[in-house]
Amino acid sequence: MLTRIRWALPAGVLALLLGTAIESASAQGDAKRGQYLAKAGGCLACHTAEKKDAAPFAGGRALKTPFGTFYGPNITPHPQAGIGRWTEADFVRAMRLGRRPDGAHYFPAFPYTSFTRIVDSDLRDLWAFLRTLPPSARPNQEHDLHFPFGWRFPLVIWKWLFFTPGPYTSDTRLTPAANRGAYLVQALGHCGECHTPRNFLGGAQQNRSLAGGKGPDGKRVPNLTPTRLKKWSDGELKDFLVTGITPDGDVPAEAMGEVIRNTTSQLTPEDLAALIAYLRSLPPLADEPR
Ligand code: HEC
Ligand code: HEC
Repeated sequence: MLTRIRWALPAGVLALLLGTAIESASAQGDAKRGQYLAKAGGCLACHTAEKKDAAPFAGGRALKTPFGTFYGPNITPHPQAGIGRWTEADFVRAMRLGRRPDGAHYFPAFPYTSFTRIVDSDLRDLWAFLRTLPPSARPNQEHDLHFPFGWRFPLVIWKWLFFTPGPYTSDTRLTPAANRGAYLVQALGHCGECHTPRNFLGGAQQNRSLAGGKGPDGKRVPNLTPTRLKKWSDGELKDFLVTGITPDGDVPAEAMGEVIRNTTSQLTPEDLAALIAYLRSLPPLADEPR
């Protein structure tokens, strides 16, 4: 009896210590995974100037839209120029709720309408990765927006109309692979930001999800549902998303070329197969009228 207590006590203490160790290990994000997730999320493109020697993630990329030009901000850990003073909670709030640490609303040119679907553990890993970047002192550039789109306060109404915050939850009608693909497309890959048509206020038309139409730059974007993509085999689709060459030997417009270079060509073979499985599972929707 006594010996059992003598052993049970240290074992209990050990379990407690181990428990806390495991918990703090999982509370700390994994920067290496975060680096992969940043590719899956295409963060680099919007947060790096288009100059050849531009510091990665230090901002300055111009994003032209019908509302004006947005400039991706510096998201390196520089304390003044970047987000070095942020806490992980600030980051999670920005990605999940589209709110700045001071409470102001972000413009949806930052695709938080998709990133809100990123699950907590992935947000933690992304944050851990961003902390490993070399801090850059590159100052942020003001957005150059047409009147009255430069105001942030009406965004609260916009968000009320068009923004549903919350992480992705798996869809029981889909296979595990298609669920992973749905997560990659809807959350990280934010494919719908270009491939889902928008109304005149820039809100995504959810009943026309991924049916193509006009992209954020006003140019035509194709339908990703089987109506159009059934013409391509899985192999052709995979080749396109890895090499950026269509079955006819064409190269896509630069908007998609960039997505292929930075995102889809960087996915693991399993993730790419999952993404294709999800596109195949979509309900076929008619093309947007021109
Ligand atoms: C399509 C372009 C685009 C992509 C892709 C993108 N961002 Fe951004 N991001 C923006 C824009 C534009 C803003 C500024 C929004 C504003 O000022 O309201 C922004 C703002 C931010 C901010 C807030 C910075 C600050 O100083 O307040 C963070 C953090 C951020 N993005 C992280 C990310 C991460 C992480 C990814 C990848 C998972 C990512 N972004 C992908 C365009 C993008
Ligand atoms: C920045 C806007 C943008 C984003 C984000 C984007 N695409 Fe595209 N995509 C385009 C444009 C524009 C084209 C048309 C290219 C052309 O025909 O020259 C295209 C074409 C395609 C095509 C070829 C379809 C066809 O029938 O020709 C596929 C497949 C595709 N995109 C998949 C994706 C996937 C998957 C994602 C998310 C990981 C994604 N796209 C994200 C803009 C985008």
